Amino acid sequence: MTPREAVRRAAARLAAAGVPSPEHDAGELLAHVLGTGRSQLPLLDDVSEEAAERYDRLIARRAAREPLQHLTGEAWFRHVRLEVGPGVFTPRPETELLAGWAIDQVHDDPDVVVDLCTGSGAIARAIVDERPQAVVHAVELDELAHGYAARNLAGTGVDLRLGDAFTAFDDLLGQVHVVVCNPPYVPLEAWESVAPEARDHDPHLALFSGQDGLDSIRRLAVRGAQLLRPGGVVGVEHADVQGDSVPAIFAATGRWVDVRDHHDLAGRARFTTARLAP
Ligand SMILES: C[S@@+](CC[C@H](N)C(=O)[O-])C[C@H]1O[C@@H](n2cnc3c(N)ncnc32)[C@H](O)[C@@H]1O
Repeated sequence: MTPREAVRRAAARLAAAGVPSPEHDAGELLAHVLGTGRSQLPLLDDVSEEAAERYDRLIARRAAREPLQHLTGEAWFRHVRLEVGPGVFTPRPETELLAGWAIDQVHDDPDVVVDLCTGSGAIARAIVDERPQAVVHAVELDELAHGYAARNLAGTGVDLRLGDAFTAFDDLLGQVHVVVCNPPYVPLEAWESVAPEARDHDPHLALFSGQDGLDSIRRLAVRGAQLLRPGGVVGVEHADVQGDSVPAIFAATGRWVDVRDHHDLAGRARFTTARLAP
C-alpha cells in the first residue's frame, strides 16, 4: 500500500470516530511509524506489512480518542519539542499566545520570570529558548508531571521545583519581573463538554479548580502580588467564558493596574494580564 492510500483510509476511520483533525493525525502517525516527517511521506513508495500493522494499532488507539501526542510521545510548543504522555497535561497551541506575551515582557538582563503550574515545562522552556538571558523559575505540584518537566527542562538552567504554586518561591518575594501561569480553570459544570482526549487523558489536577474553575486564579491574584516587584506583570490563561470574571478577580484585590483581557485571532477571550501597582 502507498503512504497516500494508508493515510486516506486511516483518516476516514478517524473522521468516523469524531477525531477533530483526521487527515493531520493520520499523517502524523504514519510519519511517526516510518520515522520520518509528514512532508516526506509522498516521497516514499510503500508501507511495509509490518509498518502497516503498527500503524493500524495506533490508528485504533487514536480512534478511541487517545491524544495524538500520547501516541507519538511528543508535543511541539512554539519552537521546542517536549516529551509528553500519560500523567502530564498536553501543551495546547492556544497557550503559545500567553507564552509569547511572557516572552515579550522579558527585556533586561537578568529579568526574573516565574512559570507557576508548569506541567510539562512548556512555557518555561519556550521562554529560555527565546530569551536565554532570562532567569526562569518553574513549579509543579504533581510528581509525575514534575518528572516530565525535569526531563524537558534538563540543561536549560531553569530552576524547577516540586510544590504548590501559590506558596512556593518565598525566596523570591518582591523580586520577580514576570509571573506567567496556565492554571487549571475548567468549571466543574463544563465536565460534559470537555473533549474525550482531555477528560480521559489529561490529569484532573490540570483541568479543574473548584465549581467555577477560578479557585487557582483567585490564589494567583494574591500570590502574584507578593512575588512581583512593583511594576511587575502577571499573565494568566483562562477559559473563553472567563474573559470578564478573571479581570474582575484581579481588579477586586486593589493591588493591580492595567488589568486587561486578550483575545485570540478567532476573537475568543484567552488570557488576562495585569501590572502590580507601583
Ligand atoms: C492546565 S495545566 C498547564 C501546564 C503547562 N503550564 C502548560 O501550559 O502546558 C495546569 C498544571 O498545573 C498543575 N497544578 C495544579 N494545581 C497546582 C498547584 N496548586 N501548584 C502547582 N501546580 C499545580 C497541574 O498539575 C498541571 O500540570
